[in-house]
Amino acid sequence: MPFDSLCSRPRAMFRALALSALALALGLQLGLGGLTPALAATPKTAAATLPVPIPLGNLLPQPQMVKAGTGQAPFLLNAQVPVLAPEGLAGPAQSLAQTLGLRLKLAPSSTAGAARIRFEQDPSVGKVAGAYRLQIKPDEILIQAAENSGAFYATQTLLQLLPQEAKLTAASAGFELPAVDINDAPRFEWRGIMLDVARHFHDVRRVKRVIDNMAFYKLNRLHLHLSDDQGWRLAIKAYPKLSTVGGRGDHSRPDAPAQFFSAEDIRSIVRYATERYIEVIPEIDMPGHSGAAARAYPEFFDGLVTFNPAKPETYRFIDTLLGELVELFPGRYIHFGGDEVWVEKTRWAQMPEVLAMAQDLTPAGQAPQMKFVEAEFARRMVQLIQKHKRVPIGWDEVIAAGLQDNMIVQWWRMDHPEMVLAALKQGQAVILSPSDRMYLDYAAGLGEPGAPWEGNTGGPVSVEKIVAWEPMPVGLSEAQQEKVLGIEAPLWTENVRSESYLEFMLYPRMAAVAEVAWRQQAQSEPKAFVKRLAPHIARWKAQGVNVRGNREDAHQYRLH
Ligand code: ACM
Repeated sequence: MPFDSLCSRPRAMFRALALSALALALGLQLGLGGLTPALAATPKTAAATLPVPIPLGNLLPQPQMVKAGTGQAPFLLNAQVPVLAPEGLAGPAQSLAQTLGLRLKLAPSSTAGAARIRFEQDPSVGKVAGAYRLQIKPDEILIQAAENSGAFYATQTLLQLLPQEAKLTAASAGFELPAVDINDAPRFEWRGIMLDVARHFHDVRRVKRVIDNMAFYKLNRLHLHLSDDQGWRLAIKAYPKLSTVGGRGDHSRPDAPAQFFSAEDIRSIVRYATERYIEVIPEIDMPGHSGAAARAYPEFFDGLVTFNPAKPETYRFIDTLLGELVELFPGRYIHFGGDEVWVEKTRWAQMPEVLAMAQDLTPAGQAPQMKFVEAEFARRMVQLIQKHKRVPIGWDEVIAAGLQDNMIVQWWRMDHPEMVLAALKQGQAVILSPSDRMYLDYAAGLGEPGAPWEGNTGGPVSVEKIVAWEPMPVGLSEAQQEKVLGIEAPLWTENVRSESYLEFMLYPRMAAVAEVAWRQQAQSEPKAFVKRLAPHIARWKAQGVNVRGNREDAHQYRLH
């Protein structure tokens, strides 16, 4: 079948059309007189050592409490300043010392020496994971946290206050840091970004750069969408054709050579993320959106892009796959997809064994219904993932199909807000990714690069729109609110085929996502937030990142 018809996410086609229209409009506007290249190239800002420290009032996400030490002398950070830390906080202390070029001394409670950066393990600093206190005094920077992630976030706040190239040498004059007392803690435990590496592959180096930025903004979940119709991006020993055959092609080039992560690549990503207190969640999208796996092992599929749910071998295949997945991803979660199965578009109804399964699952006296098969498939995914001692996650269609099992539901369909309460009432936990607020593949401004929006009357997914969002649904009991784990912003990559494009879509919106995930409630006034963002954009620019600046310059960016 033609490759295009494999792209079952309907948004994709819509986007391609509108993107061409946009390209045409821009081409004309810029006097390029054609469709390609869509956007005029501008020279990359020289990767620089420009000092762009973030002022106290512009820290992002905004800390819960910032008390400037008015009248106090600043702290002078130079190469002689040691980093002192107890064993319990050695990880974040070590990485800070390394970043700044300072000596680390593992000393339980030493206050010796002149000026110093001192880590202190203090169980009383906030009850939630990630809480910290950072005090900058004339003779000491004191970081207090109950556990490592909190201490790490304190270091990220400190790094925001420093120029981006803050590695000290004996010859450097050093940096002055303002006296301040910061008390901080996150609101949500789940502060995520999803990166689709299936539609267009994004390699280890790119993923690590995303991780660096996530860490800087205190995000802590990286969800990798590893498989879809356009490509399978993970080497699996038991089923090598998944990557060698399924890895071929991408959304732009169905004939592209195979692109995928090796086991060593994944280990390297996971290690890098773990050092930055980020958990990596693998997603294998099933039973639909599986065209790449179907090209590699058609015997487990319906002849199109959807698994054959009535074949015992299908479940053995998935079980083996999960066995390798848990070896590669030591985190707590596995995402099995479950979205957009659209049973009427599958061949299930023409397959006698699936019809028989549907008949078995449908209440007596009714015609067989495929939605019961969809729910049964999802139920078996939940059971298999639990057998492998991981927590299953699925997109919200799985509960629309009737799944009630203990799992995490990722809500994305903004036109089905009732799914959130339905999941909570069933005792399931929820991650909020409503497409009109969190989908970073959608344009950040009207007529800008990115996917257009179908069905959204609320305008582009702008920074302002993201920060104006209060994610917690109204009317929930306290127990239900606790089951709302947090938010996650997916970046689907049907259009996003280059690092420039990736950066354009992620930055600066990633900082807005972090703000919503971290702050206590919807207190960010959009216009004020945009002002607070300015030095962050300057910093990204100074790093040579293809960050979206503002509406005026948004059309000048490189996408290729
Ligand atoms: C999705 O956007 N299909 C989860």
